[in-house]
Amino acid sequence: MSNSVYLVTGSMGFIGAWTLYHLVKRGKQAISFDLSERRDRLNLLLSPDEQRAIRFITGDLTNTDQVFKTVADNGVTHIIHLGALQVPFVRANPILGAQVNVIGTANLLEAAKRHNLGHFTYASSAAVYGPVERYPAGLITPDAPLDPHTLYGVYKQANELAARVYWEENAVSSTALRPYTVYGIGRDQGLTSEPTKAMLAVAAGKTYHISFGGYTQFQLGSDVALQFIAASEQPLKGAFVFNLGGTPTHMGTVVELICAARPGAQVTFDDKQLPFPIGFDDTPLRQHFNPVYETPLADGITQTIEHFERCLADGRLAPPA
Ligand SMILES: NC(=O)c1ccc[n+]([C@@H]2O[C@H](COP(=O)([O-])OP(=O)(O)OC[C@H]3O[C@@H](n4cnc5c(N)ncnc54)[C@H](O)[C@@H]3O)[C@@H](O)[C@H]2O)c1
Repeated sequence: MSNSVYLVTGSMGFIGAWTLYHLVKRGKQAISFDLSERRDRLNLLLSPDEQRAIRFITGDLTNTDQVFKTVADNGVTHIIHLGALQVPFVRANPILGAQVNVIGTANLLEAAKRHNLGHFTYASSAAVYGPVERYPAGLITPDAPLDPHTLYGVYKQANELAARVYWEENAVSSTALRPYTVYGIGRDQGLTSEPTKAMLAVAAGKTYHISFGGYTQFQLGSDVALQFIAASEQPLKGAFVFNLGGTPTHMGTVVELICAARPGAQVTFDDKQLPFPIGFDDTPLRQHFNPVYETPLADGITQTIEHFERCLADGRLAPPA
């Protein structure tokens, strides 16, 4: 085993659980840092035995001393910072949103500097862009102006700018990834979780109606986690921010693929495009990383349904209402 120790924040969340999963499967030392002690998502991915390889810390990103101590006491060499409050929670409590999403990131950037970690990997979001009408039709290009219209997006942009200053002033390099519509085991909240919920319903032999349609880029949670780990293990020199991309896909295709995976499945959708772009040009990511993790959508959907079926069969998941 190498001396690498990965601190994963937001590790009880959807992408965090997948990140712990891949680190454990690769025999890496992982520290889980999350305010939540609920292992619901992790239990869908790792057995209790496998979870023993992880060091669990119940921690608050807003607590500067605790963040510093966690990095200092555990020999952390890599930080993958995923912990955050999502759009509805930030809207409901903007001050706490700033504390978690901005101060939390500041605490980790400062910890990275103080402990000479050299590099910092973190989640930003496509929410740093503005309303879809602001951009020409098609994929949003890498040089498109940022124009966040939610506090969540504003806070994410603040983190990107703070990371740039840490590079310029302190030589702490960083890589941010901006996921878009992520699906897969553990995606259980938010509007764009509906395609995943449809896969769970089909696994349970139930019908499902997805309340939106149009085009988006679907990214598998497992792939996104692998990309975060790659970003952490291949530290680029500078303050980099990459959109995750993929092929814009119509919801009709998603529904067809679900039905092809389980013939007879009954999934419907409202064909209305959300007020978001159809996707992002991910050329810069491809120029810097090889491979880019992108499980074909048909395989990702089939794997997700099969995994849900196993979890339903062994009682790790209750059938959806
Ligand atoms: N899932 C997506 O589609 C998506 C899209 C764009 C960006 N992102 C970003 O990727 C990251 C991971 O997303 P996710 O879907 O896994 O989110 P998630 O909401 O599932 O998980 C976030 C985790 O952060 C933890 N957390 C919240 N406040 C904390 C605090 N004060 N201290 C410690 N932990 C705290 C929560 O308990 C939770 O487990 C986030 O930064 C998110 O903004 C996700």
